[in-house]
Amino acid sequence: MVLGLIGCGAMGAANMRSMMGFDDVQVAALCDVDDDRVPNDFKEVEAKYGRAPAVYKDYRRMLDREDIDAVIVGTPDHWHALNLIHALAAGKDAYCEKPINHDIVEAHSMAAAANHHRAVVQVGTWQRSTREFTDAIAYVRAGKPGRVTQCRAWITDGARIGRGKVEPPPGNLDYDLWVGPAAMAPYQANQVHFNWRWKMNTGGGMSTAWGVHMIDIALLGMSAGQDLEMPIEVTACGGRYAILDDDRDAPDVTEALLRFRDPDFILHWSVLRDHPGKPGHGTAFVAADGRTLRVWRGGWTVLDPDGKELPKEEADPVPTDHWRDRVDCIKSREAPRADLASVARTTIACHLVNAALYAGEAVRWDPTKNEIVGRAGKETLAWSRRYRKPWKLPVYD
Ligand SMILES: NC(=O)c1ccc[n+]([C@@H]2O[C@H](COP(=O)([O-])OP(=O)(O)OC[C@H]3O[C@@H](n4cnc5c(N)ncnc54)[C@H](O)[C@@H]3O)[C@@H](O)[C@H]2O)c1
Repeated sequence: MVLGLIGCGAMGAANMRSMMGFDDVQVAALCDVDDDRVPNDFKEVEAKYGRAPAVYKDYRRMLDREDIDAVIVGTPDHWHALNLIHALAAGKDAYCEKPINHDIVEAHSMAAAANHHRAVVQVGTWQRSTREFTDAIAYVRAGKPGRVTQCRAWITDGARIGRGKVEPPPGNLDYDLWVGPAAMAPYQANQVHFNWRWKMNTGGGMSTAWGVHMIDIALLGMSAGQDLEMPIEVTACGGRYAILDDDRDAPDVTEALLRFRDPDFILHWSVLRDHPGKPGHGTAFVAADGRTLRVWRGGWTVLDPDGKELPKEEADPVPTDHWRDRVDCIKSREAPRADLASVARTTIACHLVNAALYAGEAVRWDPTKNEIVGRAGKETLAWSRRYRKPWKLPVYD
């Protein structure tokens, strides 16, 4: 399988390295709008395959190559929808980083495009392939902690991007291409690489960046398969309360309630500065009798209502590596463990949190029609944004 990487930042490079570990994968091309981001990976790839990969600045030129079977989309969130849909239209399969997009309208287009082009798309929600999470999900699905009536998911967020100054973009960066379909903003060094996730023009703050990981586990536990349960109503409040002397505009405090029906339960999502129950991220399932299952990166535990640890069971079998699952599914044409259509549902649940927060009122979701009911939430960036010309979101029926 011949691979190309779009977006050679921290996560794109990490994904590429995972795939380079497989004998049946070859990395042939790298693409980044910043020349300075490519050289290190360039040397590593050349050393492994004995030839230099082709290097591109415009991902569309890389997609023109017929020998590339699949791409990794490792760009910032505001680019995923176009990178992915253009790749699928060029006949490629893909591994797309999470959150899969910047808004709900993009989520629909991406899922429709994958369906239309019969593409295999695995998403970077690698927790779905990690033992503590698969064990915890299997335990909840088997009804072992009892009937779950509440879930909690949380992340702590104290990130600062500092105060930057407006300056001309450096010569190595094609800033116009970096901004792409997002709204143009004057260049500030502290608002591009990595820090874009705390600017709502390019990211969604922690409710999407980490919500997609931790809310995903709650939804998987409460669903029978990959076709995830969706909330019917979301309320949220919060904003920038804690970190004020900073250029970030993403909320640093969010408390959201997502209401589900059949099964009836509430999911409580928090973005907070600290959490009384460490670690700083996690997902919990609370049963009707007060038993609680808590899972985080590194472990899981089941507690009785008095807080005493209960015995737990490990599920079988151990999942294959997330990236191997992706390569195997591209070959077999089966849905991968983090299939795009499934993670699109988690991503939409996360966008609904931001939609409710910015709308300042409850947002209702129709899980049958797969859309927001009424106007509340539809004026927010979480629903959709105006694409900067000449970029257009392709529409699929
Ligand atoms: N799965 C995980 O656990 C996990 C962890 C961290 C980040 N991520 C996700 O990975 C993605 C990348 O995050 P990051 O921290 O590596 O960001 P980053 O800013 O470090 O890297 C993004 C790279 O994409 C490049 N880029 C931007 N627009 C481009 C375009 N049109 N064509 C080609 N290159 C372009 C940038 O120049 C940059 O080098 C994000 O979606 C993020 O949410 C996932």
